[in-house]
Amino acid sequence: MEPRFLLKIAEKFGTPLYVYDEDQIRKNYRTFLSAFKSKYKNTKIFYAYKANSSLAICHMLRQEGAGADVVSECELITARRVGIKPMNIIFTGNGKTDRELQTAVDSDVIINVDSMDELYRLHKIAKGKRKSAKISFRINPSIDARTHPKIATGLRESKFGIHLENDLAFKAYRLAKELEWIEILGIHTHIGSQITDVKPFKETAEKIMQFVCELKEKLEIKLRFIDLGGGLGISYRRESAPSPESLAEAIVPVIRRFNARMGYDPELWLEPGRYIVGNAGVLLCKVTGVKETPYKKFVSVDTGFNALMRPAMYNSYHSVRVLNKSEEESTEIYDIAGNICESGDILAKERKLPKVECGDIIAILDVGAYGFSMSSQYNLRPRPSEVLVWGETVEVIRERETCEDFFEKQYVPKDLLE
Ligand code: LLP
Repeated sequence: MEPRFLLKIAEKFGTPLYVYDEDQIRKNYRTFLSAFKSKYKNTKIFYAYKANSSLAICHMLRQEGAGADVVSECELITARRVGIKPMNIIFTGNGKTDRELQTAVDSDVIINVDSMDELYRLHKIAKGKRKSAKISFRINPSIDARTHPKIATGLRESKFGIHLENDLAFKAYRLAKELEWIEILGIHTHIGSQITDVKPFKETAEKIMQFVCELKEKLEIKLRFIDLGGGLGISYRRESAPSPESLAEAIVPVIRRFNARMGYDPELWLEPGRYIVGNAGVLLCKVTGVKETPYKKFVSVDTGFNALMRPAMYNSYHSVRVLNKSEEESTEIYDIAGNICESGDILAKERKLPKVECGDIIAILDVGAYGFSMSSQYNLRPRPSEVLVWGETVEVIRERETCEDFFEKQYVPKDLLE
């Protein structure tokens, strides 16, 4: 999206503002899908709603044919509301409540079981409803995805999934097979996010497929799908990130090799989030001041980590542009300071930018994934508005919150009002 066009958008819709590029999202989706389809026809994509669950974006991906990877009751309800068919929804998540399991059984989605306790609770619920629950198990493959520790999920110390070690996963399938109201459909794993090397994916595919073969050979369980999760990284600071094509090249041959041994081809399911929406969103904000301390120069803006959590939470890097100034004139080094009352609220550190002044408009790039979806109202900062751009058209897809929104669901006992 051109700087001049973004400036016009900022002027018309105000800041802070998330702006998404519809063409880019569709393009990313198609690139991802075709990279796999061309090598493995039986591939299905389940877009990870947690990356960005704005309704317009979920609808767009439904139009493209994506299923949904959901991790909470409300994400599940969102996917249903958007019109995703139950068989195209997989409900992952650790610590699911009975209520969430009930909703999942009622809506016929696939439940990705994270623990044995969850399996027993689910079976009881399904039995009570006299309705089979369709499941996969989330497997922890004990693989280091070599990403930020907070977003590595397949480590042996991680809280997610059932481990292969000590035959735990094997026993889970053996037991589930005996349960009357449980129908086993697949297997799932997800080793982490923002992974920039295909090797851990390949190692995971090896381990999972080896286990899938064992299930077939020892328990006669023939799985309908193998879900290898999401996690493909994108380039935030011009570092190299593997393409979907190279990811497919790394894992499809592994799957094929084991398929030949098993004598059938299960479906391959994938759950990309970041790759689909990450580079398709920017956060626009306005400069409210420039402060020179004896040690640093700070640019204050009208947003903060309530709107974009990633830099504070993961020390993550997002490129920054001053939209109304030429990059060629970059002479100054600034920290971009968010407006939340915490020292940790620095949106970008030590960036070379043109001389910044009050009123300048700054774009923080590549925030389409885990930007708005991780936002909060901390410091009673209303969440930003979101707009969607296609071609020359710009449409609001979420209104800016107001102060009234903070009060809406609160009650003050009468005595306290005296
Ligand atoms: N499937 C499962 C089960 C997941 O837990 C996740 C992400 C995905 C798929 C999608 O992964 P992706 O393709 O987007 O990497 N808030 C962090 C990222 C957390 C990811 C959590 N799980 C961030 O801002 O970097």
